[in-house]
Amino acid sequence: MTRRLKRSNELEISLLVKDDNFINPPHAAQRNALLNRALNEFVTDLTALDKLAARFVPGATVTDLPDRSQADLSDEEIMEDWQLPIMQAMAELVAEQHGEVLEIGFGRGVASEMIQAQKVKSHTIIECNDLVVGRYNDWKKGHPGEDIRLVHGLWQDTIGGLGLFDGIFFHTYPLNEDEYMEYVNGSVTFAEHFFPVAAAHLRPGGVFTYLTNEIDSLSRAHQRLLFKHFSSFSMKVVPLQMPADVKDTWWADSMVVVAANL
Ligand SMILES: C[S@@+](CC[C@H](N)C(=O)[O-])C[C@H]1O[C@@H](n2cnc3c(N)ncnc32)[C@H](O)[C@@H]1O
Repeated sequence: MTRRLKRSNELEISLLVKDDNFINPPHAAQRNALLNRALNEFVTDLTALDKLAARFVPGATVTDLPDRSQADLSDEEIMEDWQLPIMQAMAELVAEQHGEVLEIGFGRGVASEMIQAQKVKSHTIIECNDLVVGRYNDWKKGHPGEDIRLVHGLWQDTIGGLGLFDGIFFHTYPLNEDEYMEYVNGSVTFAEHFFPVAAAHLRPGGVFTYLTNEIDSLSRAHQRLLFKHFSSFSMKVVPLQMPADVKDTWWADSMVVVAANL
């Protein structure tokens, strides 16, 4: 049994390792180094979160999640405006090579417009909501002559035959409570369930981007997950203007945007 204690004015962390074979490198000093590093990181993370939390907006409490796979949603229900700078950053990354882009989730078409502004070779969009597909059909009329293709359905049912892309932009949300339980609870990030699929549909050197739900850096768990499927990634922090009554479960004034490469 091993005990460690970390104290500061604001907190006290007590670690009890019950199994002596848990983290058991050749030397005791190595074990100490690993345990100390993990504890120090935890304290550093909490200290950073303390500063970030002081800037959180209160937000609105949304409790139930009715099925929205075919719901008639307003613009703000599909995506609130505070996400626009994230869409811009993701659109620039996914279209970096001006190649063949796959976008999952048309929504309001904001990101689609931003991707088009980057001049890409082709733009394939997967969307499952019939009413959102109606929005897409109207939007498409404003882009005659561009190679834009809509795939109507769930990405889970349709992506298989689509082949490889130079860029993949993933921005969906949980469609119902089951998806919430499956994709949000216990995940490092909502897009986690899509990581292997993205890796399977990316050309070598291609870029995958998604909504990270990370405030100012990536957690080690998030980085390890990325390295499981991709060989490298870059990230940048996008500042956000958050409305005090934001409906989404996001309250911080920044989000990290990631570009992952095979
Ligand atoms: C947050 S919105 C996307 C917003 C978009 N990026 C924009 O800029 O307007 C999410 C979209 O993903 C779609 N969606 C959710 N789950 C999906 C799935 N499994 N397959 C295909 N589309 C999905 C929803 O219908 C919705 O239109």
